[in-house]
Amino acid sequence: CGIVGYIGSRQAQDVLISGLAKLEYRGYDSAGVAIRNGTHIEVKKKAGKLANLSTLLEGTPLTGTLGIGHTRWATHGLPNDSNAHPHATEDGRIVIIHNGIIENYLTLKAGLIERGHSFKSETDSEVLAHLIEEAYSGDLYEAVRTALGQVRGAYGIVVTHVDHREIVAARTVSPLVMGVGEGEMFLASDVPALLPYTRKMVFLHDGDMVVLHDDGFRITDLAGNAVQRDIEHIDWDAEAAEKGGFDTYMLKEIYEQPTALTNTLIGRLHDETGEVNLDINLDPASFKRISIIACGTAYYAGLVGEYLIEQLARIPVEVDVASEYRYRSPLVSENTLAIVVSQSGETIDTLEALREAKKHGAKTLGVINAKGSSMTRELDDTLYIHAGPEIGVASTKAYTAQVSAMLMLALWLARARNTLTDEQAKELLHAARELPRLVEEALAPERVEAIKKVAEKYAHARDYLFLGRGVNAPTALEGALKLKEISYIHAEGYAAGEMKHGPIALIDENLPVVVIATESFLLEKTISNLQEVRARAGKVIAILSDGDTANAVHADDVLYVPRAHEMVSPVVNVIALQLLSYFTATALGKDVDKPRNLAKSVTVE
Ligand code: G6P
Repeated sequence: CGIVGYIGSRQAQDVLISGLAKLEYRGYDSAGVAIRNGTHIEVKKKAGKLANLSTLLEGTPLTGTLGIGHTRWATHGLPNDSNAHPHATEDGRIVIIHNGIIENYLTLKAGLIERGHSFKSETDSEVLAHLIEEAYSGDLYEAVRTALGQVRGAYGIVVTHVDHREIVAARTVSPLVMGVGEGEMFLASDVPALLPYTRKMVFLHDGDMVVLHDDGFRITDLAGNAVQRDIEHIDWDAEAAEKGGFDTYMLKEIYEQPTALTNTLIGRLHDETGEVNLDINLDPASFKRISIIACGTAYYAGLVGEYLIEQLARIPVEVDVASEYRYRSPLVSENTLAIVVSQSGETIDTLEALREAKKHGAKTLGVINAKGSSMTRELDDTLYIHAGPEIGVASTKAYTAQVSAMLMLALWLARARNTLTDEQAKELLHAARELPRLVEEALAPERVEAIKKVAEKYAHARDYLFLGRGVNAPTALEGALKLKEISYIHAEGYAAGEMKHGPIALIDENLPVVVIATESFLLEKTISNLQEVRARAGKVIAILSDGDTANAVHADDVLYVPRAHEMVSPVVNVIALQLLSYFTATALGKDVDKPRNLAKSVTVE
């Protein structure tokens, strides 16, 4: 979702609409604005694209020089007018916009209803408006702070009150940047919305609260202590701004993974109880067989899914590339669940395979990123991965989000089929919730630097081999695909144990071999495969878990990754491979965002 806020001397409506237009890529289920004009705050909102709201406002513009606006990607509640933001309290005196998810909103809502509050929408955000109202006794900032003290979850929030000429905002996971003007202040989810007005910006950090006035701002933490943040001068042009200051979309998206994964997982895993809440309208206990269907990178996410679902939920799973599934008369019954995995939701091979599965009576579920895409209209239900828009052609954050979604599905099926004890489920849920943190750690500057060195060292190799086992066999395939796609170096991914049955013939002193040898019950076997490479003078690049110095001696180069539960390790391990291919491609001067011959979403068969 996208947020814009303005306080100053311009007509707020103009600033809000132009800013929201720049943020529409963040979601377009509905849009809304709230503008304060002295005696009251007027709210206008409309389902659908921003253009619907603009048309509404053209007829009857709102006047006022303080306002907040929003463009929404629905999480809780349907994308209709009443669930659109902003949300006001009953008396209309407090108006808020909220991005993110309040995980404990049901408990909070029940309490508020008991205390006499009534609700107009199904959103978790409205709960925040009521909590602020309850805490308010003359000081808006204090009221927001008290309310936030009660919520658990992720938020970017902006709040206005009819009696105050100020905007109060706060963030945790959802981004917020503040623009500093002369006698005016701005707020937005992303830099491009502010560029036409100011280049002086302050990036708010997790846990920051801010109060905006016409001529200044004040930042504190949630405990109320003053916080110092630098005003940065942003000299990016519009295109650089869209890349968030990174050289390429791909690199930006690689670094977005901790946030993307938070958004994939949030509100869905309850490790206190071991429950998984995916809001899927299908009975997980009713399936006897699962078919996973996808293309490209999404197919590899499906292969990880196969491993996880069979291991954890003990249901037979088959995985097909969509273009094959369609034409091989697949065996399908009403007890089959067909899971299609697609970032775009538009890939024609996958769409046609979905239709084929449906035709034969399968129940269908999508693991999809793009809201409202073609597949979502034909699926029985969709598990959105909420990774946000992915622009780089080579998929990165969508892949890790898809793999995390497969893990959640495996747990969802396992709980319904009683194949895990409560303890096992809790342990896995906990491991999943750790993912954003582990991926953040995997992106630590010293690790990235080490990967870059290795990439440059082997950038002129003609071929590359990637090996992995078990749940990380697909990680090897994805690592090879990433390298092929953006560096044009020929690369193959293989199950490590299968190497000796063929690709071993390729090994000589010119062949770099990436061996994923992180903690696993199969680690010793993988190390034997690594030795087989070494014995033939291949160059071994070992991906090892932090602290594994014993196996480092067998490798020419070692890339350490954070230790993770084996079942979630594909998400952590692939980060190093994404960066390896990225730095190889940039060392060779390739256009990583638009590799030759490829398209982001392929809508021809
Ligand atoms: C194209 C892209 C790949 C992507 C595949 C599937 O080939 O170049 O990066 O993995 O399509 O796309 P989807 O949108 O269905 O996930």
